[in-house]
Amino acid sequence: MIPILEVAGLKVSIRTDAGPARILDDVGLTLRKGRVLGVVGESGCGKSTLIRAILGILPRGGAVDAGTIQFEGENLLVFTEAEMVERIRGRRIGFIPQDPLLSLNPVFKVGTQMLEVMRRHAEGTRRDHVARLVSLLKRLRVPSPEAALERYPHQFSGGQRQRLLIAAALACQPGLVIADEPTTALDVTTQHEILLLLRELVDEFDLSLLFVTHDLGVVAELCDDITVIYAGQTVEAGPVAPVLRTPGHPYTRALIGCHPERATSFVGIPGSVPPATRMPPGCRFAPRCAEAETICGANLPAQAPGQDGVLVRCIHAP
Ligand SMILES: Nc1ncnc2c1ncn2[C@@H]1O[C@H](COP(=O)(O)OP(=O)(O)O)[C@@H](O)[C@H]1O
Ligand SMILES: [Mg+2]
Repeated sequence: MIPILEVAGLKVSIRTDAGPARILDDVGLTLRKGRVLGVVGESGCGKSTLIRAILGILPRGGAVDAGTIQFEGENLLVFTEAEMVERIRGRRIGFIPQDPLLSLNPVFKVGTQMLEVMRRHAEGTRRDHVARLVSLLKRLRVPSPEAALERYPHQFSGGQRQRLLIAAALACQPGLVIADEPTTALDVTTQHEILLLLRELVDEFDLSLLFVTHDLGVVAELCDDITVIYAGQTVEAGPVAPVLRTPGHPYTRALIGCHPERATSFVGIPGSVPPATRMPPGCRFAPRCAEAETICGANLPAQAPGQDGVLVRCIHAP
């Protein structure tokens, strides 16, 4: 089956005061239709940069140096900004941001903001749009949906605001939804409710979901497939069950060791993600890897297929 989204060999640089920084250096992912793909890595690994590259909203000084981003069979990298606005963002790809307060304008009613986006992108009349929003908010269990549209963002709790943004992302009936750590700021109970809802919506609306998180527990709960990214390089990818059961890359193993509910004892990964301007050559995880050998600092191995359809990028992979 053709994937709905396929990123291959993606390299992205951003100009900084300390020179150009290669933020993404060979990232790939495959999201099949109707599935939920979790993209995981510590903070600073390049997850948000990857999403911005897909949506065509890299920060100033950012550029794609190599790679392809195929969405429903078209390479998004050849689209102009006008085409991305007109055809892709908000219309065929919905986006759920990390921080609902920053993404909603405090001075407009939430209904006004959501209807403005629909006026530009969705089929039908304003009356259709209001009806669709109300039914989405109902589905997302936002109390009194009609009244909710008349309120301002600060009048909602964090969890309710995140539900509003999910409704906004779905308002124009996109096939693909991309979410950047949408539950990170929420308490555990609210997070759990929203993850359950998202899973239901994927099946109900025939969506494909790209879900970015630093939390493997969230991946285990929500996702079908997983792509692990370290310092701008894809290190492991495959179905969630085999990757979490028998992780093939030392970084994936270290991440699982960091997850308090899975590990027998909480052991952090020594060191931290290097700043983008000072990336080591070869495998970027090598300086923190207990299993690294000299060659790891010289060569980045290709991703090799292992068992159960899992791809691993490590010289020690079987
Ligand atoms: N606009 C920018 N200018 C310079 N460096 C940036 C910029 N945006 C992100 N970076 C750097 O790129 C790396 C990846 O950042 P990001 O994509 O936000 O990671 P994540 O979302 O996984 O936490 C970090 O080292 C970050 O400091
Ligand atoms: Mg981020």
